[in-house]
Amino acid sequence: MTMRITPSILNANLANLAGEIARIPSADGVHVDVMDNHFVPNMTFGLPVVECIRANTTAFLDIHLMIAEVDRWAPAFADAGCESVTFHAESSNAPIKLARELRSLGARASMALRPATPIEPYADMLGELDMVLLMTVEPGFGGQKFLDLVLPKIRRTRELIEARGGEIWLQVDGGVSVDTIERCAEAGADTFVAGSAVYSADDPDAMVIALREQAIAACAH
Ligand code: DX5
Ligand code: ZN
Repeated sequence: MTMRITPSILNANLANLAGEIARIPSADGVHVDVMDNHFVPNMTFGLPVVECIRANTTAFLDIHLMIAEVDRWAPAFADAGCESVTFHAESSNAPIKLARELRSLGARASMALRPATPIEPYADMLGELDMVLLMTVEPGFGGQKFLDLVLPKIRRTRELIEARGGEIWLQVDGGVSVDTIERCAEAGADTFVAGSAVYSADDPDAMVIALREQAIAACAH
């Protein structure tokens, strides 16, 4: 299984985003957390900043939208040239319509679930998705403690994905570090967001490589 590391820039130096992205050349993508202080109790950056990031890097942009009225806002991020756009199931009124719209605009369509939201109600729409993001903390802030209670859901989601042929990426986000990535990989995750673990490391790129090696080794067990 291919293992991907997509570091979050949430806890990077936000005054120098292009420079911070350049510090992780080994990453498989850059995870950008868009928050609006409605869906989550924090506010970060919106479409204008993402458009500037797009203009300054060729990196795979993995946009994580934690915003209200996501059906209205998400397509613009695909239109801006972001390779992957993730909306929250809890925020979308029409997730199937939205996923189709994102794909029609050339982006990978991805859906996120908060820790307490089950995957089962969405099993029949997995074919509309290129990635499922399972939050392993309550969304809103970097640097929180990993929630082990999500591990069974990672396993169940992996089973549902395998039943469809295994094409869909399974991403985990929140508290992923050298201490927790193995549990996630063993449970079936293949795409890993790590924010503070990468950007608080002395050498962020070396941390990306170390995390990927750990995930590959854990998956081989
Ligand atoms: C939290 C964000 C995460 C966060 C991860 O709501 O979605 O992407 O930046 O940060 P760490 O890895 O520090 O938990
Ligand atoms: Zn995120």
